Amino acid sequence: MSAALKNDRFLRALHREPTDTTPIWVMRQAGRYLPEYRATRARAGSFMALAQSPELACEVTLQPLERFELDAAILFSDILTVPDAMGLGLSFAQGEGPRFARPVRSHADVERLAVPDMDGELRYVMDAVRLIRQELHGRVPLIGFSGSPWTLACYMVEGEGSRDFATLKAMCWNEPALAHCLLDTLARSVAAYLIAQAAAGAQALMVFDTWGGLLGPTPFREFSLRYMAQVVDALKADPQARELPVILFSKGAGQHLAALADTGAAALGVDWTTDLADARHAVAGKVALQGNLDPAVLRAGPEVIRREARAVLDSYGNHPGHVFNLGHGITPEVAPEHVKVLVDEVHAYGRTLRGG
Ligand code: CP3
Repeated sequence: MSAALKNDRFLRALHREPTDTTPIWVMRQAGRYLPEYRATRARAGSFMALAQSPELACEVTLQPLERFELDAAILFSDILTVPDAMGLGLSFAQGEGPRFARPVRSHADVERLAVPDMDGELRYVMDAVRLIRQELHGRVPLIGFSGSPWTLACYMVEGEGSRDFATLKAMCWNEPALAHCLLDTLARSVAAYLIAQAAAGAQALMVFDTWGGLLGPTPFREFSLRYMAQVVDALKADPQARELPVILFSKGAGQHLAALADTGAAALGVDWTTDLADARHAVAGKVALQGNLDPAVLRAGPEVIRREARAVLDSYGNHPGHVFNLGHGITPEVAPEHVKVLVDEVHAYGRTLRGG
């Protein structure tokens, strides 16, 4: 498959093969910091209308690639499309976070949930994947993604964003069997969702466990890691999805990298609170690493951005298996020119580092 790709640096790095320079993409690279995104978003009327139109989703997926020499595209969608398809009624009010009209609280709420139909409620996502693959013409690989079961459950039980997602945590303590039932349904849904994206043409798969780091060490293994491992196992059992590298990103879970590497994922996302040299030792060559510049660095001037980018590249060193990224998503106030400074510096310095 990568033979048809004009730029396969990203896939090569995920497979820990040598590359001429370090590949880079940016979490949330299609988003509000780009004026052209804001224009398309205004045209669509709402975030969900944008995400549910394969043509508009394709348009915004390609926007950052027109500006920067990025080494991967990521499907424009959201992790919360899955609970929306399960009937929870997702909306994004302007300037606010996500909200569910029907949060999951009771046994009856959990029992009512079923794995959504990938050719039904979620067909728009697969149509977007097919269209983006076609429009990319093999320029760079396309990343498909999902939220992790734990992170989806955080929003589904809380009903909206939160600092601590204490409603789901309370369910884990008070009714662990109910929490496990919810997480198992979500793990089966996430696996089916990623398998369908692989079938539609995604070339790598990423699982966003944004809120795994809210859990203590034992609950992390019981409620977050275990269900990501279930997802990876299900992907390995699918003849098509098993060929795609899987990236697991548990934010704030630097102490769990060795355990995450044992799931069979190809790569792990790392946030900026863990040094990449330490992360590399923790995973002992089992996986590639993706990260980990603090997104706030993009608010500094070009010289600081270049220096900090080089520091991240040096912390990984001249070993195969590094995909440069931010340690979390890019924020709306970042100047697009600063992203160009970052991408160009990573490629230039990565080339000297790797002797490319
Ligand atoms: O990376 C990309 O460019 C692909 C698109 C993408 C979006 N969301 C688009 C989006 C991806 C990969 C996501 C993942 C996502 N969504 C996560 C996991 C990654 C992370 O950042 O932690 C989470 C937790 C969500 C849930 C979500 N979606 C929230 C909390 C919000 C509102 C707050 C915010 O950050 O904007 C969204 C909305 C959203 N998803 C926007 C975009 C571009 C902004 C909505 C708008 O345009 O009004």
